[in-house]
Amino acid sequence: MAKKVKKSGKIRVGIVGVGIGGVHAQGYAKLPDVEIAALCDLNTARAEGVGERYGVKSIFSDYSAMLAEAQLDAVSVCTPNALHAAVAVAALEAGCHVLCEKPLSISAAEGKKIVDAAKRAKGKFMIGMNNRFRGDSQVLKKYIESGELGDIYYAKAGWIRRTGIPGMGSWFTSKEMAGGGPLIDIGVHALDLTLYLMGNPKPVSVYGATYAKFGPFGKGGGSWGVPANGGSYDVEDLACGMIRFENGASLALEASWAQHCAGDKLYNEVYGDKGGATMEPLRIFTERYGSPIDITPACPDRNGHEAEVAHFVECIVQDKQPIATADQALDVMKILDALYASSEKGTSIALK
Ligand SMILES: NC(=O)c1ccc[n+]([C@@H]2O[C@H](COP(=O)([O-])OP(=O)(O)OC[C@H]3O[C@@H](n4cnc5c(N)ncnc54)[C@H](O)[C@@H]3O)[C@@H](O)[C@H]2O)c1
Repeated sequence: MAKKVKKSGKIRVGIVGVGIGGVHAQGYAKLPDVEIAALCDLNTARAEGVGERYGVKSIFSDYSAMLAEAQLDAVSVCTPNALHAAVAVAALEAGCHVLCEKPLSISAAEGKKIVDAAKRAKGKFMIGMNNRFRGDSQVLKKYIESGELGDIYYAKAGWIRRTGIPGMGSWFTSKEMAGGGPLIDIGVHALDLTLYLMGNPKPVSVYGATYAKFGPFGKGGGSWGVPANGGSYDVEDLACGMIRFENGASLALEASWAQHCAGDKLYNEVYGDKGGATMEPLRIFTERYGSPIDITPACPDRNGHEAEVAHFVECIVQDKQPIATADQALDVMKILDALYASSEKGTSIALK
């Protein structure tokens, strides 16, 4: 499809879905190269509220109309997971650069539609993995790339919550709309960041288990999302698993929305033959001259969401490849699919 004629020299961005999309708007609003040209949400009052905050007058309830009329260069896809593929593919086919919120989609098969469209498209595609853009993530990545940790052969990652089921009864707790529970919602962050730190090794097999001990009984609700009375709960509230990679490394993963645990925790740990690291705050464990030494690098205090949006725009302006790619996002989806399948079958699953 031919590119539309722009009205201004700035990058004209549209946002579909203004929940976390409002956080994208906050990031875009700080960038001099960007004009937030349009917002789209089925809930137009919600979009108007975000529009008032950032001076956006062009409000749509239909993303196809927005893509046809708003002369956009780039689109943030911030809808419920089940709509990511339809909106992202439409935006790519309309000639726009696309920043799509995590997870890529509800399954690898749906996600592949985005990956294929991104390969055909002129525009860039980036998956919204904001944790990669935290100050400690970027500092640790530099240590790893410089060889300070050696070969990473083991990693542990997780995001657990004590009472944090989002939007009880809403799309968040519907398998059809979300693709799953905490594994695909927050475990995906812990998984993606760890894979990124490990250099995105190729996954070869997965063993997983999932449980639903709170949600189906109306327990464990948290503050994120809007609950929907009478809605369904057919996803897990805890998932755990082990992933093995072609290079011999392994990764232990856990995610929960509700669990009788001490409190909420997002953690990422990587262990190499020369050093290990834990995050938030970043600490590196290694040895010098035969003695153990702990290093605590100073890390910039950075809002990962704003840095993610800024990276997306920088990639457009400077014609660079975003660091969070569609292929990496698809690998993450394949791992998530396999963890769910492994839990159902009670056996490990080989990945092709
Ligand atoms: N990166 C992060 O830290 C982070 C945080 C929260 C959510 N997310 C992701 O962002 C996405 C949205 O989550 P949320 O928490 O903002 O959910 P939300 O329910 O708060 O907001 C989603 C919005 O999309 C709108 N919407 C639904 N269908 C639409 C359609 N066809 N066209 C236009 N708008 C439509 C809804 O009306 C709603 O306002 C999800 O994929 C979620 O996984 C990411």
